[in-house]
Amino acid sequence: MSQNIRVVVCGAGFLGSHIAKTIAAAQGSNFPNRLVQLSSRHPQTVHAALETVIDHRRLLPPQAVDITKPQTLDAAFHGANVVVSLVGIMNGTPEDFERIQWRGAENIANAARRANAKLVHFSAIGADKASHIPYVRTKALGEEVVFEACPDATIIRPSLVFGPGDSFFTRFARLSQLLPFLPVFGGGTSRFQPDYVGDLARAVEIISRDSTMIKEHVAGKILEAGGPEVFTYREIMNLVLQYTRRRRPIISIPFGVGMLQGSMLERLPQSLFTVTRAQVEQLKSDNVVESFFKERHNCFEDFVTQYSGPLTSVHDVLPTYIS
Ligand SMILES: NC(=O)c1ccc[n+]([C@@H]2O[C@H](COP(=O)([O-])OP(=O)(O)OC[C@H]3O[C@@H](n4cnc5c(N)ncnc54)[C@H](OP(=O)(O)O)[C@@H]3O)[C@@H](O)[C@H]2O)c1
Repeated sequence: MSQNIRVVVCGAGFLGSHIAKTIAAAQGSNFPNRLVQLSSRHPQTVHAALETVIDHRRLLPPQAVDITKPQTLDAAFHGANVVVSLVGIMNGTPEDFERIQWRGAENIANAARRANAKLVHFSAIGADKASHIPYVRTKALGEEVVFEACPDATIIRPSLVFGPGDSFFTRFARLSQLLPFLPVFGGGTSRFQPDYVGDLARAVEIISRDSTMIKEHVAGKILEAGGPEVFTYREIMNLVLQYTRRRRPIISIPFGVGMLQGSMLERLPQSLFTVTRAQVEQLKSDNVVESFFKERHNCFEDFVTQYSGPLTSVHDVLPTYIS
């Protein structure tokens, strides 16, 4: 078999640790072994946790990087065959979003190009350059600069991601413990297509195989990653209550009141109760796959199913980790 493939997971957080684990564990006689390196500002904690579950021969020493400082990236990406670009933020000023999700994404893409590595970049469903929401706008600007620097990159756009260690479902499970009700904004009618983190990890593992057929499927493409089920926001709150076995009323808060709440809470230090105006705004739009026939797009579900089997239902995983 040919040489090992070196994969740098840049952004050692929730998705990064699952992706690293899946890639390091992947076995197959038809493709080379993958060696995984974690890189972020402080990758040591995630690295230490993975050391206990991953074959140590597949886990390379972690390398600290700051994606806003391009000079830190070249050394970390040296010798990489694949770079997975995962750094993103949920809160911050518009300038923070630009620094990380736009210019930071560009820094990663330029460094991946210099290293001659295949780039897999994580954006988000709904990325839109015309949006006034900094998260949504900078995700689209990031996509643009990624394709400018690396035309053969693959962009994955998840919806809401679930799995052990997630922030969304775990947070609402905890809130259902503390609050006498669960809140939704504007009736909770916006729709989501939650992705199992393990399915996203499988997609990256497949892309990191050295295969011409797979390359034809994903090079220069955007995969909008919707899970196998669509739920409204209110239905998602019901799922949280169902699998935590709690009975709580779900109370709808008008968007206007949510915005007022956001304007106060976003000034305070972050906590379980933090909600920002931008997050309330985002809840006005659906977060589902809508791009079947758009240029550059390819079907995530078909891709994962073809190479590694069907996508995973929320019902199979949520009960195993929320309480
Ligand atoms: N989770 C979801 O539901 C979801 C949905 C749609 C899209 N996405 C996208 O998927 C990607 C991964 O999401 P995630 O949930 O895994 O995020 P995450 O858990 O927050 O992980 C991101 C990691 O990036 C690192 N980081 C932050 N600033 C950095 C910097 N300046 N330089 C280097 N590293 C930095 C942080 O680690 P250090 O503190 O060690 O630096 C952090 O752990 C993001 O781009 C996100 O927007 C996620």
